[in-house]
Amino acid sequence: MAILVTGAAGFIGHYVAKALLARGEQVIGIDNLNEYYTPALKQMRLACLSGEKAFTFHALDIADSKALEAAVSGVDVTGIIHLAAQAGVRYSIDNPAAYVASNLVGHGNILELARRVEPKNTVYASSSSVYGGNKKIPFAETDMTDDQVSFYGATKKSNELMANSYARLYKIPLTGLRFFTVYGEMGRPDMAYWLFADAIREGRAIKIFNNGEMSRDFTYISDIVEGVLAAFDRPVDKREDLTHPHRVYNLGNDNPEQLMSLVAGVEKAMGQVAEKTFLPMQKGDVERTWANIDRARKELDYAPKITLAEGLARFGKWYREIWVKTL
Ligand SMILES: NC(=O)c1ccc[n+]([C@@H]2O[C@H](COP(=O)([O-])OP(=O)(O)OC[C@H]3O[C@@H](n4cnc5c(N)ncnc54)[C@H](O)[C@@H]3O)[C@@H](O)[C@H]2O)c1
Repeated sequence: MAILVTGAAGFIGHYVAKALLARGEQVIGIDNLNEYYTPALKQMRLACLSGEKAFTFHALDIADSKALEAAVSGVDVTGIIHLAAQAGVRYSIDNPAAYVASNLVGHGNILELARRVEPKNTVYASSSSVYGGNKKIPFAETDMTDDQVSFYGATKKSNELMANSYARLYKIPLTGLRFFTVYGEMGRPDMAYWLFADAIREGRAIKIFNNGEMSRDFTYISDIVEGVLAAFDRPVDKREDLTHPHRVYNLGNDNPEQLMSLVAGVEKAMGQVAEKTFLPMQKGDVERTWANIDRARKELDYAPKITLAEGLARFGKWYREIWVKTL
């Protein structure tokens, strides 16, 4: 018996795998260790898991259905937490093919696996990006999500539609989690807070898009992990009020912060003021995100706790004391 975690060498995936191991679960981790950002960081995360007897790892691409099936052959897969994806809004502008392979073909293969092995629950990562150009704030799960401004967002919205049809057709319990800008130690080097830290360390100016007129709902990693496990432990097929076992949840912080507050927080965490270059809005970006988390609060007992200032302080300490030593 084991729980399959895809994207186990990724930021969120490795913390989720660690939390599952800590509560005594057997975990099969899958990741293709691609070079979208430095694989050294993925290896660092895997090193946090590899000492655990209950953890098995397979380096494979979820777009390869045969390899995926082979990795779980002979295992009773009791649950799937699917976090592997090509992430990043900006990268999707020039590299859409990577998103088709990982997020569409790969997601389809995971749904097929779920259809075959019938785990108790399958949870997958969606994104706040599905809200695209939504003007109504805060963003609620009942809002329209048909207007995608990035191809990344379009693949995540497609993931929800694909999952919805599987839930209807095959009665497989599926839960999609719309994560809102997740950050923390061992996070993603392509995200703004990390790029700012890199620029400060190297004495370069940080790039501030839309002249700083942006806001994001930032969610610290430990809050996200709690939300993922809460959703995993509550398969929606137990809900009598749903016509089919598929549900999406916002996992955010319900506390949008201005981009300039992020900059100030990173400066404080790094102990240095940054030079700044103000630039226009980038293609594919949205001006703001803000999660309405009433549904997750009510149905998952989700209650994010960590403020941006606290989370950035933790990230900064890790970055200065551990990450820089690996460079
Ligand atoms: N971090 C955020 O702020 C955020 C926000 C919204 C949604 N998400 C979603 O959450 C999930 C996890 O994100 P993350 O921040 O941990 O990103 P990440 O890039 O750190 O983790 C994803 C992992 O999946 C692996 N992967 C990618 N394509 C693969 C494939 N075809 N086969 C096997 N492995 C593959 C990568 O190597 C990586 O280790 C993703 O689905 C992402 O789209 C993240």
